Amino acid sequence: MKSNRRDFLRNITAASALIATDSVAKPFNIIRNLKKISPNDKIRFATIGMGIQGHSDTRAALRSSKEVEFVAAADLYDGRLTRVKEVFGKEVFTTRDYRQILERKDIDAVLVVTPDHWHDHITKASLKAGKHVYCEKPMVQQINEGQSVIDAWKKSGKTMQIGSQRISSASFREAKRLYQAGEVGEINYVESNNDRFNAIGAWNYSIPTDASLRTLDWDTFLGDAPKVPFDAKRFFRWRNYKDYGTGVAGDLFVHLITGVHFVTNSMGPERIFSSGELSYWKDGRDVPDVLVSILEYPKTDIHANFQMVLRVNFANAGAIANNTRIIGTEGQIEFTENNLVLTRKKLPKAPGFAGYDSYNTFSESEQAAFKKQYDAQYPESTRLAEPIKEVKFIAPKEDDAHANHFADFFDNIRKGSLGTVEDPVFGFRAAAPVLACNSSYFEKKVIHWDPINMKLKKG
Ligand SMILES: NC(=O)c1ccc[n+]([C@@H]2O[C@H](COP(=O)([O-])OP(=O)(O)OC[C@H]3O[C@@H](n4cnc5c(N)ncnc54)[C@H](O)[C@@H]3O)[C@@H](O)[C@H]2O)c1
Repeated sequence: MKSNRRDFLRNITAASALIATDSVAKPFNIIRNLKKISPNDKIRFATIGMGIQGHSDTRAALRSSKEVEFVAAADLYDGRLTRVKEVFGKEVFTTRDYRQILERKDIDAVLVVTPDHWHDHITKASLKAGKHVYCEKPMVQQINEGQSVIDAWKKSGKTMQIGSQRISSASFREAKRLYQAGEVGEINYVESNNDRFNAIGAWNYSIPTDASLRTLDWDTFLGDAPKVPFDAKRFFRWRNYKDYGTGVAGDLFVHLITGVHFVTNSMGPERIFSSGELSYWKDGRDVPDVLVSILEYPKTDIHANFQMVLRVNFANAGAIANNTRIIGTEGQIEFTENNLVLTRKKLPKAPGFAGYDSYNTFSESEQAAFKKQYDAQYPESTRLAEPIKEVKFIAPKEDDAHANHFADFFDNIRKGSLGTVEDPVFGFRAAAPVLACNSSYFEKKVIHWDPINMKLKKG
């Protein structure tokens, strides 16, 4: 059935519109910042980590509001600092040492866009220095780092946003609205995947010809990771090594689970199991390139129990259709950042008979007896299925999830509010289960997680 955005909007019930305005369930009362930024002041921000995403985040932050200013950048590789001045202007202050940024009183907010193993350290130091923080996903590299980031955030009273920006897209918001309106009935299964098949997609990013101990700060890059001799591959392709990155689970599952938690308001799974392998990219990496995880979500006050299957296959030479499907007893929502299809299918009360059924094997007299009983039990009105309904949504071209995500961050800073769409509690409830997917793979066991108290449990 062909449909359009208008049909889609017509199909949204009043209830869904109401629920869509609710933000993700928050675990504690939002406290207000004492020091607000005056509406007349520009928010001055700095980016720490000016690699691929550092550039992308900085551009998105600048697109999100005219009332923000990019004033400083830190990075460990000189070439990237030179590039900052080429792209954003000579007046931007650049340094290898992020602490010089934290010392500056004229900087209100920082974007933490370093490799994963630096997220917790720089985030906590930034909050302590009185900065608002936008921290890239996954919020932390290790599960045991999460609570200390949450504590530092609560203590600071500063605004924080975690950077899984797709939840700020129009399509994800519509998915949430439909789901909360009950359009899929009782949720029972979710599947979501992010497959790829190309070298860049599999994280083999280009290495500059001048990479050396002279042009970059190797010791600082290593941070709390084991000390190893300089290796440009480790510096520029850090995702391939579990000392610095979080594998496909921390890097990509985290976007998928964040989307599902955003739509369903779920707090997270209780049991997590992974299976995977290093299938194709045998280039020295120590993380799998194919990973499938099953996450078991318990029944709660707000949703039924359901199973979630996440998959990344970096060696998928077949058809690739990356999306999320939320399936329930009355329909399914299938969505990406740009579009969505809701299919509603509700069974009639009467089960039907004949067709591929044991009825045909009954004797004639038994068939007659069965039919009589069936007619008495199921009047005509119980036999009609609702027609299958398909509703499509295509996000407006101008929808800019990345800029929206930053707008939410900056708006909350201005309001003196901690209530961002992806605060650290939300961020950790998404990060911890996907980091547990890694633990399950490497330790070959089921991981037990307490999603309410955000703690690992004994099996
Ligand atoms: N939200 C998204 O869609 C998205 C997309 C890509 C990456 N990311 C996240 O962004 C982060 C960065 O990824 P990337 O692809 O830009 O990596 P990258 O390697 O391109 O850039 C990381 C940069 O951080 C710098 N760096 C490392 N340690 C530092 C430190 N202590 N101080 C200052 N600079 C430091 C490095 O010199 C490097 O230039 C990761 O956490 C990643 O998961 C998010």
